[in-house]
Amino acid sequence: MRVLGVETSCDETGIAVYDTTEGIVGQHIYSQVELHAKYGGVVPELASRDHIRKTLPLIGQTIADSDLSMNDLDGVAYTAGPGLTPALLVGATLARALAWSLDVPAIAVHHMEAHLLATLLSPSKPQFPFISLLVSGGHTMLVKATDFGEYEILGESLDDAAGEAFDKTAKLLDLGYPGGPEIARLAQQGTPGVFTFPRPMTDRPGLDFSFSGLKTAVQSAVKERSDLTEQTRADIAFALEDAIVSTLYIKCRRALEAHDIHQLVLAGGVAANQKLRERMNDLNADVHYPPIALCTDNGAMIAYAGHERLIRGMSTDLVIDCRARWSIEAINRTGSI
Ligand code: KG4
Ligand code: ZN
Repeated sequence: MRVLGVETSCDETGIAVYDTTEGIVGQHIYSQVELHAKYGGVVPELASRDHIRKTLPLIGQTIADSDLSMNDLDGVAYTAGPGLTPALLVGATLARALAWSLDVPAIAVHHMEAHLLATLLSPSKPQFPFISLLVSGGHTMLVKATDFGEYEILGESLDDAAGEAFDKTAKLLDLGYPGGPEIARLAQQGTPGVFTFPRPMTDRPGLDFSFSGLKTAVQSAVKERSDLTEQTRADIAFALEDAIVSTLYIKCRRALEAHDIHQLVLAGGVAANQKLRERMNDLNADVHYPPIALCTDNGAMIAYAGHERLIRGMSTDLVIDCRARWSIEAINRTGSI
């Protein structure tokens, strides 16, 4: 069985084909980073216009590079949410129409579930049940996954996501977008202990997060220094990365202990962070990650999540719809959204 995956929830057009026996047989990602860089964040209207230009040609290119024809597809999966509505609608419309024209099922995929399942594309696969830390630009949450499609949110961010904290601080430090990789790069030059930022909500019980205060702490540190030298910026970047990584580490340890689970899955764009990966090795648990390239948004995770739904008999009605907000706990077991 072969499933085409179409990801257009934010600023990446991601296309891939997943084959039951061969795995990912082709994939392409087009990033709009340059388009949004000068705004310091994603502009939804510009994102959707670019997805309109790029999605169909990228599908054609991916099919051709996989030595397949459209008729070899058994299903078309697309990100139906959560994400930016104008961007999601492009993928939903094109994928749904393509499935209809090929007379194959369309499969609406939940973006965060796809991030979580991407780990199953790595050689060392976790077994259910596991705890997943989903850390992206839009979400930070701890999820208990007991089976495919069976997710319980144990804790989540009450305000900014971890990725957002990286992105907003990067903006304050005049670094590029997306901020995570920029902060991580600059932090390598930073001196430990020059700045110390809080580990929000770690001093009280519970598994929720709050990262918006970090932005304020960085703002104050920047204001205090009239000369924002390259070294000071690096010291701030180091302290910020350290605060986010430590906070995520403490909450993961707490979740694993509370639920007596010994497998942790890290997923989402921030899971690409090297310091975070190193720190998680200190946990008394098997830690699994998707391959680095599949941490940030991509079509492969959508093709795979769609494939897993299709082989379980789930598909989506002949409707074009998306959900900007969509809890991972509310995923429908029938395939409709
Ligand atoms: O999952 P993703 O590609 O998109 C969303 O679904 O939001 O995550 C993007 C986020 C951005 O906030 C970006 O700054 C962050 O992931 N990110 C990183 C790294 N690479 C991407 N954060 C920290 N370290 C990285 N190496
Ligand atoms: Zn994502």
